[in-house]
Amino acid sequence: MALDIVIMAAGKGTRMRSALPKVLHQLAGRSLLQHVLRTAADLGADGIVVVTGHGAEQVEAAVTAPHMQFVRQMPQLGTGHAVRQAVPLLHAEGTTLILNGDVPLIEAATARALVEACRGTRLALLTVALADPTGYGRVVRGDPAGRAADEGGRVHGIVEHKDANPAERLIREVYTGVMAAPTAHLKRWLAAIGNDNSQGEFYLTDVVAIAVADDVAVVTVKAASETEVLGVNSPVQLAELERRLQRQQAEALMEAGVRLADPARFDLRGELECGADVEIDVNCVFEGAVMLGDGVRIGANCVIRNAIIAANAVIHPFTHIDGEALGVRVGTGCSVGPFARLRPGAVLAEEVHIGNFVEVKNSTLAKGAKANHLAYLGDATVGERVNYGAGTITANYDGANKHRTVIGNDVHVGSNCVLIAPITLGDGATIGGGSTLSKDAPAGQLTVARGRQLSLAGWKRPAKKR
Ligand code: UD1
Ligand code: MG
Repeated sequence: MALDIVIMAAGKGTRMRSALPKVLHQLAGRSLLQHVLRTAADLGADGIVVVTGHGAEQVEAAVTAPHMQFVRQMPQLGTGHAVRQAVPLLHAEGTTLILNGDVPLIEAATARALVEACRGTRLALLTVALADPTGYGRVVRGDPAGRAADEGGRVHGIVEHKDANPAERLIREVYTGVMAAPTAHLKRWLAAIGNDNSQGEFYLTDVVAIAVADDVAVVTVKAASETEVLGVNSPVQLAELERRLQRQQAEALMEAGVRLADPARFDLRGELECGADVEIDVNCVFEGAVMLGDGVRIGANCVIRNAIIAANAVIHPFTHIDGEALGVRVGTGCSVGPFARLRPGAVLAEEVHIGNFVEVKNSTLAKGAKANHLAYLGDATVGERVNYGAGTITANYDGANKHRTVIGNDVHVGSNCVLIAPITLGDGATIGGGSTLSKDAPAGQLTVARGRQLSLAGWKRPAKKR
């Protein structure tokens, strides 16, 4: 039986007060819509239709998913009108699951349960009981025997908050915006809904009363948690949801054995894979894809994106690692930071030390190499056990092109040197502090390239005239 998914994402999101369409706002590093699409992809749908409208071009350019098509809703005349635009793309038979682009944390298991409850023949609504149901559509129940909602009375319909009478406003069971319906029925029902209500909109929720009149059973499924059905309408709600999601992610990591100094001060905006005995101090942000090997320790206030950090490496506080597209690799037992910066293509072998205010970009450092203070390594290949002095830089850019610096094994580069690339320092070379090198330095020799020191014995400092 075919499963179609419709995701409504055409609304303006006025209360976000933003030029960015609401569904493109970020939650834990992904847009709201991308979260919903990931869940939709997990359900193995035969087709996914995203209804766009406000900021349609921007929305359509921003997201991707398999089996996804867009339809535009112009103008936006309500949720029923939105789903109507998708009708031509739905299969003739089967089930249609309707999701909201601004309800990002709906769980696949819950959506699956809703589809199962529908069985291709019944209208299934995802509902939740809220302490404060203000603003939501209320699930109106009751049957001829007089049974009320909590006694399992049959669903009559959904009444929107703005259209509800005082008695209906007391109902705490609300519609979450998610439903599963028999596709063939849904198509007929959508054609039948009107817009005679307080907002003059075509309400998707009106299909419930139509289904009841049609003698189609209406069933409800309760959401597993409040979090999965919370919608985002304002920056406050977005931040609230971000915290809840961060908490969930932090708890999942801790259950797997990761030691977070404080789960309330942890942010994951992507995927984080951790080995055993990983420790993460407060205020760290992980973005993109990050892998931490066994025994890795991350100090406070680090930002790490697209990087692989091998076993027992220690990243000291305030270190920024951003692999962008190329990635960064930190080898086993390395020590990085505090205040270090690793940029795309930084590849550190085992036991490398990178100290404070050292920047490494597109450079490979072999086992045991050290750059401990105030240095720049760009487009360099650094040998084993090299000691790269404080204040030394590779001058890798001539204003038009980048050039490589090659430093052999056991080279000792003194402090405050400028290595003008392209250049090669042979194995075991020693470079005197303060040298500016524009030519290769031979292996095993001391190379010094700076003004000779001079002392004038008879020199007198000028005195002031009286
Ligand atoms: C809707 C439900 C309400 C439910 C609530 C749950 C209706 C009529 N009401 O109300 O019962 O309790 O969700 O959050 O459905 N959208 C479009 N085109 C439109 C209008 C909306 O695509 O013309 C999209 C929005 O972008 C959003 C979703 O539909 O993703 C819901 O719209 P919204 O205006 O937020 O509906 P609510 O008033 O919250
Ligand atoms: Mg809403």
